[in-house]
Amino acid sequence: MEQSVRTNWQNYWSDLPQEPGLPIWDSSGQVTATAQLPLFQPHFAENLPLLDIGCGNGTQTAALAAEFPTVIGLDFAPAAIDHARALQADSPATFREYDLADPDAAVDLHLHLGDSNIYMRGVLHQMPDDLRPAAVTSLRTLMGATGHLFAVELSPAAGPTMQAALAQSPDAVPKLQRVFRHGLKPASWQEGKLEALLENAGIEIIDGGMITLHATDTLPDGSILDLPMAYVVARNR
Ligand SMILES: C[S@@+](CC[C@H](N)C(=O)[O-])C[C@H]1O[C@@H](n2cnc3c(N)ncnc32)[C@H](O)[C@@H]1O
Repeated sequence: MEQSVRTNWQNYWSDLPQEPGLPIWDSSGQVTATAQLPLFQPHFAENLPLLDIGCGNGTQTAALAAEFPTVIGLDFAPAAIDHARALQADSPATFREYDLADPDAAVDLHLHLGDSNIYMRGVLHQMPDDLRPAAVTSLRTLMGATGHLFAVELSPAAGPTMQAALAQSPDAVPKLQRVFRHGLKPASWQEGKLEALLENAGIEIIDGGMITLHATDTLPDGSILDLPMAYVVARNR
């Protein structure tokens, strides 16, 4: 029987040494969340908590905590939270377990925190399609009347780029190989799906565009693996 996506992620994180840069997407905060600030900071009210949903080892959470007063990293894999607490021990960010695909958990969190801003990088693109509507319902609940969302996700066009990189040699892009070995399914969606999911849930997209993920894996010729990502800034209608 196919394992749940949560089990796959838990195994991915528990098999990984607690060192920065080992996940393929784990580019530094400086070239990632900090560089993306001009895209979303003007929309994010400073007095709201900022949730980093699907925070992984917390590299971007810590970068956000240098800019915003209350930053909470959330992930459904307990082993990811262990990585984040160990690697970001010097950061004021806090970390806790949370499943975005559980709308009741979003109601509880919203009761506790009130409206929140959300940073979310690389979560919906790999999620099974049947869980995505619940995840988007949770985003709606967490934002409430005043929060904003910045979501940045692998574009479907990243799929062929990853396959071409893997085909270059049997030991090419080992960090990407690790992702597939754990049954994870990056970029498993179609063009326009991110926007359609949000719009169908009553979430209005107020800005968007394309950016590049400079991955931590290199190709056999030594060049960096670059992957296309789509971003949106959004709020509840
Ligand atoms: C590709 S990683 C990105 C990590 C981090 N956002 C970053 O940019 O470094 C995706 C993360 O989302 C988490 N995740 C996947 N589905 C989730 C869900 N339903 N709820 C919470 N976290 C989830 C995984 O455990 C994993 O840590």
